[in-house]
Amino acid sequence: CGIVGYLGTKNAAEVIVDGLSKLEYRGYDSAGIAVCSEGGLEIRKFKGRLAVLAEDIEKNEMKGNLGIGHTRWATHGEPSDTNSHPHFNKDKTIAVVHNGIIENYMELKEELMADGVEFLSQTDTEVIPHLVDKYYEGNLLDAVYKTVERLRGAYALGVVCKDAPDELVAVRKDSPLIAGIGEGENFVASDIPALLKYTRKVYFLENGEVVHIKGTDLKIYDAERNPVEKEIFDVTWDVEAASKGGFDCFMAKEIHEQPEGIKNTLERRLDESGKIVLDSIKMKKEDLEKINKIYIVACGTAYHAGLLGKKALEAFLNVPVITDIASEFRYNDNFVDENSLVILVSQSGETADTLAVLRDSKAKGARILAVTNVVGSSIAREADDVFYTWAGPEIAVASTKAYTTQIVSLYMIALNFALEKGSIKEDYYMYMIEKMKTLPEGVQSILDNQDKIKEIAQKIVDKEHAFFLGRGIDYALAMEGSLKLKEVSYIHAEAFAAGELKHGTIALIEEGTPVISIATQEKLFEKMVSNMQEVTARGAYVVAIAQEHNKGVEKVADDVIYIPNSDDMLSPVMAVVPMQLLSYYVSTLRGLDVDKPRNLAKSVTVE
Ligand code: G6P
Repeated sequence: CGIVGYLGTKNAAEVIVDGLSKLEYRGYDSAGIAVCSEGGLEIRKFKGRLAVLAEDIEKNEMKGNLGIGHTRWATHGEPSDTNSHPHFNKDKTIAVVHNGIIENYMELKEELMADGVEFLSQTDTEVIPHLVDKYYEGNLLDAVYKTVERLRGAYALGVVCKDAPDELVAVRKDSPLIAGIGEGENFVASDIPALLKYTRKVYFLENGEVVHIKGTDLKIYDAERNPVEKEIFDVTWDVEAASKGGFDCFMAKEIHEQPEGIKNTLERRLDESGKIVLDSIKMKKEDLEKINKIYIVACGTAYHAGLLGKKALEAFLNVPVITDIASEFRYNDNFVDENSLVILVSQSGETADTLAVLRDSKAKGARILAVTNVVGSSIAREADDVFYTWAGPEIAVASTKAYTTQIVSLYMIALNFALEKGSIKEDYYMYMIEKMKTLPEGVQSILDNQDKIKEIAQKIVDKEHAFFLGRGIDYALAMEGSLKLKEVSYIHAEAFAAGELKHGTIALIEEGTPVISIATQEKLFEKMVSNMQEVTARGAYVVAIAQEHNKGVEKVADDVIYIPNSDDMLSPVMAVVPMQLLSYYVSTLRGLDVDKPRNLAKSVTVE
């Protein structure tokens, strides 16, 4: 989500809407604003793009020089006018915008309801204005401090109050927030682009810090209320570069956001004992026991994540799983019935074929579980159970962070189902969670060492064809690697099960043909080495992706990209990253539009 707050001499609504327009990449399912003036506190918010709000304000001006605004990317509660921010207390005297997730909102909500508070929305955020209201005794800063003491989770908050018409309080904890300093005016925002039109002088807030803007004064305090002296940062980038966080395209930015996306998806769902809480999946043990067939159905990259989901479900639950492409599955004899579990994987939650499978399967009585990144999307709404990947908005057409968070999500689901069913032991379950917790760090270490990948990109930039080989889990991964390269670089790339190559395809290998060979699976490593030898002997340029300790691979590969040592099941989450980066570099070297490849759309709502 994106936040902007303003107190100064200009029309607050104008400044805020303009600022939000630079933050739409942070979320765009609804937008809202609260403006404080002598006339009171006015709140307007609408489902849909920011343009809906902007149009309304254009028709009917909002007067006042103090305000807060928000563009939303839903995590709790589907996009709707009511669920949009700002949220407010009973008398509409306090308004709050929030970016992040309040983990203990259920217990806070129960407590407030017991006090007689009525809730209007399904969001986690709404507890905040009610808490501020509860603690407000004429001092807004005090009330906000008391409120944040009660909150668990991640948040960047902006708070205004009708009875404090020259004050704005903002807080940062684990969600980005900056403060901007102008001439006789001050700002807060989630990110720099929102402010660049007005000021280039900003403070980067640390966790626990609170901004108090009063009149023309801006002060920063730490969590213990000690004043903090901070250095002003002078921004030198332009708006375009800033919205991409300094990266040259969204794909690069999103590749680099994977450690955070994986961490959010996993760690925010762990309870105190370290177990995964699948709070939005209502399936019980009896429901699981009834299921005798599991399907995973999806399109594109999500289908490739589904292939890995199959491996995890089969390994943990000890039952066969069918993964299929939605546009095929729909028209096949698929044997879906009331004893089937159909898992739909979709970043957007809107893909037409995937949605059609959902509806057909539902009509046949199957239990439907959606794994999606978009709260309130059609697939999320129509499914019986939903698991959200908390990757944040994905803008680049080629999917990256959605894919890795989908894999992690499917693994989490598989682990919990298996523990519930008793097909894995608790020790193994905890071991896998501990291993999964190391994934963000593992991915980060690959992101920190890109030189080799850049070099390899240079070697393949002029090639017309490339092959991706793998066995087992790595074969599924090879499909995603080849799709990435095709999508963004337009090099013809094909994935093959490494053992199948000799049954025909090997005829295509010539001097210098790039063959990306994924060899992360311990038990298949030797076999992969033989397959690499087969293509090396025919003149291929072999790039291997292997676990760090398998140095032997250097004997058969021309170049090797190492990933940190890991469990075989988890290594794909890391091994895909060099392939994403390789595709990005080749595309850039070819001078192509990385984020918007020709002929492709981010969300395909036609069959
Ligand atoms: C489009 C996109 C792909 C995506 C596929 C499925 O083809 O270009 O990147 O993987 O749709 O989209 P979904 O939103 O259902 O995951």
